[in-house]
This record gives sequence, C-alpha cells and structure tokens, in this order.
Amino acid sequence: MSEPKPTILKIGGSVITDKSKELDVQMQAINRLAEEIREANVQNLIIVHGGGSFGHHLAQRYAITEGFKKETQRIGFSETHHVMTVLNGLFMDALIWRNVPAVSITPSSCIITKNGRIQCFEDAPLKMLLKMGFLPVLYGDAVLDTKLGFAILSGDQLVSVLATRFNAERIIIGVDVDGLYDVDPKVKKTAKKFTHLTLEELKELQSKLDKSTAWDVTGGMFGKIAELLPAIEQGIPVTIVNAAKPNYIYKALKGKKVKSTLIEKE
Ligand SMILES: Nc1ncnc2c1ncn2[C@@H]1O[C@H](COP(=O)(O)OP(=O)(O)OP(=O)(O)O)[C@@H](O)[C@H]1O
Ligand SMILES: [Mg+2]
Repeated sequence: MSEPKPTILKIGGSVITDKSKELDVQMQAINRLAEEIREANVQNLIIVHGGGSFGHHLAQRYAITEGFKKETQRIGFSETHHVMTVLNGLFMDALIWRNVPAVSITPSSCIITKNGRIQCFEDAPLKMLLKMGFLPVLYGDAVLDTKLGFAILSGDQLVSVLATRFNAERIIIGVDVDGLYDVDPKVKKTAKKFTHLTLEELKELQSKLDKSTAWDVTGGMFGKIAELLPAIEQGIPVTIVNAAKPNYIYKALKGKKVKSTLIEKE
C-alpha cells in the first residue's frame, strides 16, 4: 500500500507577527488560524511556520546567513534559535489548547545544511508522527551548516523539501497578501494578482519579480518562488493564499474556492 500523500501548509511569519516590529507576535492571528486548522481537520497535514519579526531581525543583526565568522555571532545564533522556539511555543499552545494533536519538530535538531541548503535531514520521527495521526509542526530556524558553521534555514526551503520528499498532495502557502502579483501589492496599489500560473509562466515572471527583501533574510516573495520551483516541477500544486483574512486558510485546506494564486506544473 502506498503512503498517504500529505498536505504541506506554510503559515507565513508575515501573518503571525508584525514584521516591521521586532518580536511582535500577532496572538489574534495565531488563535484564529489554530481554530481554522482544527475546524478543517485535514488528515496527513504538516505545518511549517515562518520567523517573521522573531527570526529575521536577529538573524540580520548577527549576520547569521553569512555563517560563523566571529565570536560575537555565537550568542546571536543561540538567540535567533531561541526566539523561534518561543514563537513556535505560542503557536503550539494555540493548537494544543484546541485539542489538535500537534507535535513540534525542532529543525536545528534534525537538519544540517551545506551552504544553506538542506544536506542531512533525520526525518524518521516526523514520518512516524504522521503515521500515528499527529500533526507535525516545523519552522524556519537557525541551523548548523557543514560549510558555513551555521545558516538560516527558511520555512520556504523546508516546505519545498518536505513536499518533494514526502510526495505531497499539495502545498498551501499562507501570506499577508491575496496571492502572487506582478509587483509587490504593498508597494504598488495597481498590482495585478495572478489567479492561475503554469510552471512556464512562473519561470517567465520570476526574472521580473522584485528581489528587495526589507525585513526578510530569506528573500521574501522572490525567495519563496525560487524555493517552490522543484516541488512544482514534481507536479505538486501550490496555492498562495491570504492567511491574514479570516477563513481563507480554512477554505484552502478544505479545497473550497478562495481568492488565491494557484501554481501548477501545466
Ligand atoms: N510579487 C509579489 N506578490 C505578492 N507579494 C509580494 C510580491 N513581492 C513582494 N511581496 C511581499 O511578499 C511578502 C510575503 O513574503 P515574506 O517573506 O515577507 O513573508 P512570509 O514568508 O510570510 O514571512 P516569513 O519569511 O517570516 O515566513 C508580502 O508581504 C508582500 O508584500
Ligand atoms: Mg519569507
């Protein structure tokens, strides 16, 4: 019997924190999303959440993405990883208090990167959790790196690797905008949203997307798209949806019609 295909849900740091303010958690959004996840009751679900204003500011301050170069970065690595466990704890609280059998998996304890790319990933506990009907929750994290000493592993890379490894049914990416636009909708009011894109169309669009990243050390929307390409190439559909708006994630999880961008291989 073939393994059931999981759904991978990314909850963006742009939704559960205010990225413009350091360590600013949006508890209301976390609680609402936990409610929507419980209500949707999707089997074989894996959640990854981003770092938002918990991860990115500290990672930037201590130049964690550049690797281990000086002593003063050591405490920065500890701090960056620690604040992510704090944000993750708040997210886990919200799920578990609602009777969702979620179990946190700490990426820095089971993943090592090489030049920022996942090199080794001990996924046996994750597989077993899924099999036993738990909801594994991972997050963007500061991890050890065989070339750089340490690095930042984005939630987006994690989503893509989980999806390709476990041959996911679909990927749902929750952000704080209604989908993928031709330009950043927060910068340009007249930005045009795409409803549906093929892999070919996405690749064409990619070169035109803005690379400026503001408070995102992992490349913002541009980095996200680049990470998702291998999963889309493997035939896994990606829905980008606004997780800041009530019930959008619920509807996406239930496969109901919702304002979003759907990206498919063909
Ligand atoms: N072409 C675009 N279409 C849609 N959003 C865009 C585009 N270009 C830039 N953005 C910006 O990308 C942001 C989402 O990506 P970002 O990496 O900041 O959030 P996130 O992935 O949710 O956070 P985290 O990395 O902490 O998980 C949106 O807030 C939006 O303003
Ligand atoms: Mg991001």
